[in-house]
Amino acid sequence: MKGIILAGGTASRLHPTSLSVNKHLLPVYDKPMIYYPLSTMMLAGINEILIITSGNCLDDFRKLLGNGSHLGINISYATQDKPNGIGEAFLIGEKFINNESVCLILGDNIFHGTDLKQKLCEGVNNNNLNNGATIFAYKVLDPRRYGVVEFDSNNIAISLEEKPKNPKSNYMIPGLYFYDNQIVDIAKKMKPSDRNELEITDINNYYLNKKILKVTELGRGTAWFDCGTEDSLLSASNFVQIIEKKQGLKIGCVEEIALHEGLISKNELSTYLKDKESNYYDYLKSFL
Ligand code: G1P
Repeated sequence: MKGIILAGGTASRLHPTSLSVNKHLLPVYDKPMIYYPLSTMMLAGINEILIITSGNCLDDFRKLLGNGSHLGINISYATQDKPNGIGEAFLIGEKFINNESVCLILGDNIFHGTDLKQKLCEGVNNNNLNNGATIFAYKVLDPRRYGVVEFDSNNIAISLEEKPKNPKSNYMIPGLYFYDNQIVDIAKKMKPSDRNELEITDINNYYLNKKILKVTELGRGTAWFDCGTEDSLLSASNFVQIIEKKQGLKIGCVEEIALHEGLISKNELSTYLKDKESNYYDYLKSFL
């Protein structure tokens, strides 16, 4: 399975903070935001990853993550220069996806929880064959800013709506999606919405109508954040700080995951850490 991280856009809701820096490079406590979705991909066992960002930020991402070899993975880059919607990721990534299934994660979505790895692996396994899509549902008090899923009494998804004024449930759809290889053809069939975007919810509705969409609930033991507003960005930073200080373990630490998943050796980590000094790098040195 291939992985795409969508990290473009103007992030106008965060202006002026994100005027001269791509939002996904802003810090969430002790590391850049993009580390978190990257760590989610790595926990799912995905090691071929395409980062889609805006052309003027490409060098910044390359400087931060390079080709991924220090993490034992393969990172490549592409650009989305107009806000044509999340669905465009599959058109931009057509060659990269090739004949495989694909996981898409939005670059400002942070996930943390004990059974997360298991849920991710289920997503990967469900979609490795040509058998549909897997998305998630997460309970929030006010889902109006998000995609919203409605379930019937047997917990089967029956409707999906993007940013509804009157949501039919409290279950929002986080920005993490697993698709089979039909996705590129389906994205090509989609028409832009009223706001002129290829909506991810339209794509998911296509799978729902074909009865090949699996919606898995992320229970209350999972934390989910997006970081699109000043408040959600601060909440995510506060959350990460509290957990990390309490446990002495880091969230979204891609080098640690690379080591624990066997993608790099202790020797490779040691070489990477040479001449690097900060609290973050000191934490990594404790694994050597
Ligand atoms: C996007 C999706 C929405 C999803 C949300 C999760 O919204 O369109 O369905 O629930 O991400 O973060 P956006 O953040 O682009 O407004």
